Amino acid sequence: MRFKPDSVPEELLTRILDAAIRGPSAGNVQAKYQELRLNRLSGASIYPAIQNIILACPALGLGTLITTNHTLLEDEVRTVLALPPEMRTYALMPIGYPRDKFGPVSRRPLREVACADRYGDAWLGER
Ligand SMILES: Cc1cc2nc3c(=O)[nH]c(=O)nc-3n(C[C@H](O)[C@H](O)[C@H](O)COP(=O)(O)O)c2cc1C
Repeated sequence: MRFKPDSVPEELLTRILDAAIRGPSAGNVQAKYQELRLNRLSGASIYPAIQNIILACPALGLGTLITTNHTLLEDEVRTVLALPPEMRTYALMPIGYPRDKFGPVSRRPLREVACADRYGDAWLGER
């Protein structure tokens, strides 16, 4: 996803983070978000928050996606974020105003990926 150079207002980022913390968490252990790019949840627990960010962004005219490539540069990322040793990162989500096509993402049709009741019975509903 390519972004326009326009920066995203702090107020919108606050709304996005607010959507993120509304997600479910295992054991209802609530996360403490100090940075959009940083979290202290255990690995799997971060995904509901990520999904909420993915849903909130288009509603605000913004694009985003989950990336994990930054883990290849773990040391540099830790330095840039001034991350304490006990903190880990699991995902990095660029957020911005999309430069190109903006709308629903394209996916394979439901009948190819979803089953009705029993494995192998294709879902016949169309969208
Ligand atoms: C766990 C996970 C990690 C991902 N990591 C990356 C990544 O590091 N770099 C990247 O370009 N896309 C990554 N993706 C894919 C993008 O998030 C995105 O799904 C893909 O670019 C297709 O865009 P779309 O979902 O808007 O169709 C990852 C997806 C998941 C679920």
